[in-house]
Amino acid sequence: MDFSTLCVIGMGYIGLPTASIFASRGLHVTGMDINTDIINGLNAGQMHIFEPGLRELVLDELKSGRLQISTQVSPADAFIIAVPTPFYDDKRADMRAVIAASESIVPHLQPGNLVILESTSPPRTTVDIVAPILEKSGLKAGEDFLLAYSPERVLPGRILTELIDNARVIGGINPQSAQAGRDLYAAFVKGEIILTDATTAEMVKLMENTSRDINIAIANEFSRLAQRFDVDIWEAISIANLHPRVEILRPGIGVGGHCISVDPWFLVEAAPDEAQLVKTARQINDEQPAFVADLINQVAGGLNGKTVAFLGLAFKPNVDDLRESPAVELVHHLQAAGAKVLAYEPFKHNAHLPEVQQVSELDAALLNADLIVLGVAHDQFKNIDPADIQGKTPSTLVFDAVRAWDKAKWEQAGFRFCGLARKH
Ligand SMILES: NC(=O)c1ccc[n+]([C@@H]2O[C@H](COP(=O)([O-])OP(=O)(O)OC[C@H]3O[C@@H](n4cnc5c(N)ncnc54)[C@H](O)[C@@H]3O)[C@@H](O)[C@H]2O)c1
Repeated sequence: MDFSTLCVIGMGYIGLPTASIFASRGLHVTGMDINTDIINGLNAGQMHIFEPGLRELVLDELKSGRLQISTQVSPADAFIIAVPTPFYDDKRADMRAVIAASESIVPHLQPGNLVILESTSPPRTTVDIVAPILEKSGLKAGEDFLLAYSPERVLPGRILTELIDNARVIGGINPQSAQAGRDLYAAFVKGEIILTDATTAEMVKLMENTSRDINIAIANEFSRLAQRFDVDIWEAISIANLHPRVEILRPGIGVGGHCISVDPWFLVEAAPDEAQLVKTARQINDEQPAFVADLINQVAGGLNGKTVAFLGLAFKPNVDDLRESPAVELVHHLQAAGAKVLAYEPFKHNAHLPEVQQVSELDAALLNADLIVLGVAHDQFKNIDPADIQGKTPSTLVFDAVRAWDKAKWEQAGFRFCGLARKH
């Protein structure tokens, strides 16, 4: 099938790069979002998200005229839905954006069109939720128009390369839909394109993130056991990983972001009786910030009235994404223990997070600190020389929650150095 026009719904971390790459391959693309600030900003050349290389690509494609940004859905040969799928407080999937996006396509849907859902979704969403909404157009899914699910599997920070190089799964509601999806993504995907059915593709995405969550949960649980038995978890893991069939991941302060900390709940909701390991792993990872906060409280001899310089708020290193961030959770726990926390996040100086006091310079965080906590291993923090910090803070205590710093160097610079289950 040939495609010359495309409408991408949702101009976030996934939709904007996807729309721009399609435009760079010659398609005429409308990038649509309901958020007028985002649309006005993009049309004025201002990015609302940071992703290496994205700004240049978007500006080029806007200039070429192949990418247009709008608050309205446009008729097109194909539609891609890339809207958020968060969860409610009780961890049920919040599918309102997928439903609204599907409804917004209905008035524009034409015979022969292809619709692709990219948003991470509970099993059977494409068949049970999206298809019936699109059929309100009077057209029949799989016959009059084609419908597929294609999960996005990119890593924030590497989105533009992984979009192109990663293998892509396309699950059609029928084989023709999957094949049409392949024809569309072949415009830029260099990785293998695997065709399957829609529900398998939905499961694949959820299984990938869930298995990662479970593997991190066991690493986090091992860190707690190591703390209990006075073992350096990092040394223990590196020795265990010498075994040819063992690959334990790194423990940390928890699991965050839009995907791994959210997606497993979709399986728990869909089949609570079966997804028990999934649920337990989620709970272990969610409890990890509280565990780390307790540890910090202990090594600091109590936190009440103390000032903490907290470095990093993003959910992982070298990104500006703070969604579901365990670092933010950790800040809340430190505050609940009585600390005054000044948080410095170089990728987002002012995130307007409720109850988090941010500073826009590292020095401002250090100025009156009793304790320095490293929460995220951004390269910028990894490269800090403790000798440079010494004169900028009254603090003599450092807690490296993510094992990014060299203990000996900090000790040489006169700091007492502590970390998560760390002796060396
Ligand atoms: N960010 C990632 O790294 C990543 C990776 C894999 C999968 N995903 C999945 O991709 C989907 C999108 O994630 P994201 O990170 O791009 O989200 P995002 O929050 O960055 O962007 C989503 C955009 O959709 C817009 N939107 C919401 N409802 C809309 C509607 N009805 N019509 C038009 N626009 C609407 C929002 O205003 C927002 O700008 C989610 O399901 C997510 O789980 C994300």
